[in-house]
Amino acid sequence: MMLLDNSFEERNILVEICRRIADKGFVTATDGNVSTRLPSGIILATPTSINKGFVTAADLVEVNLDGVQLSGSRMPSSEMDMHLFIYRNRPDVNAVVHCHPPYATGFAAARVPLNECLFPEVIVNLGAIPLAPYATPSTPEVGDSIAPFVNNADAILLSNHGVVTYGKDLWDAYFKMEKVEHAAHIVFVARMLGGAKPLSAEQVEKLRSISVESYGKDFSGKIACKLEHGAAGDNDAGTFALSQEEYTLIVEEVKKRLSRHSEKVKQ
Ligand code: 13P
Repeated sequence: MMLLDNSFEERNILVEICRRIADKGFVTATDGNVSTRLPSGIILATPTSINKGFVTAADLVEVNLDGVQLSGSRMPSSEMDMHLFIYRNRPDVNAVVHCHPPYATGFAAARVPLNECLFPEVIVNLGAIPLAPYATPSTPEVGDSIAPFVNNADAILLSNHGVVTYGKDLWDAYFKMEKVEHAAHIVFVARMLGGAKPLSAEQVEKLRSISVESYGKDFSGKIACKLEHGAAGDNDAGTFALSQEEYTLIVEEVKKRLSRHSEKVKQ
């Protein structure tokens, strides 16, 4: 099937990004997928089960926002649901990149979000990088798992799976993937050296006003990152974090106890 939308430039950029994610080791074997929303509204995407280093423009497929395949001789990526979920919820987004880069995916497997205020570049461009609960890859569960974050984050760790980033165009989405993996690598090193030290509220506020003045970009709409512990404005002060698993265990335990209690009351 011939492509309906002849956006040559986007096709070439999409292929180039596939090559880069393969070269950088952000994916292995046939992992990962990339898509873009063309000016016509059609979504151009990688097909399923192909090594991203081998992708050519002729392999790409087109689908509509409902996931109906419009062109391409191969099947669309099995993660199309997640891509379409992002496009439907974010009219400002025109590209999605999904990879399994080793450091960021390590954090996703350890269920540790990259949510501290550590790097000015990351704070300004991404804010906190949240962790979505585990969802079975290739199912609509993945879209559901990122629903709480999709509007306020442009990069999300997918528990025990990988990372998804998105942006105004293909390069923007791809650079965010580079940024997430680079940040995860540095945080890993910092943790080996005794732990990274987050910025203070004043330091983050100074960044915000510079970002607004110089670039007209205000990151306060993004998920707030965690400040230096105990500092004024520390959004972690006096609280503690629970993992999704710990939270579920506690809820289940409370449910069991309540049901035992109500059984006893009935007797
Ligand atoms: P596809 O080959 O279907 O795009 O899936 C790869 C992948 O990474 C699934 O998460």
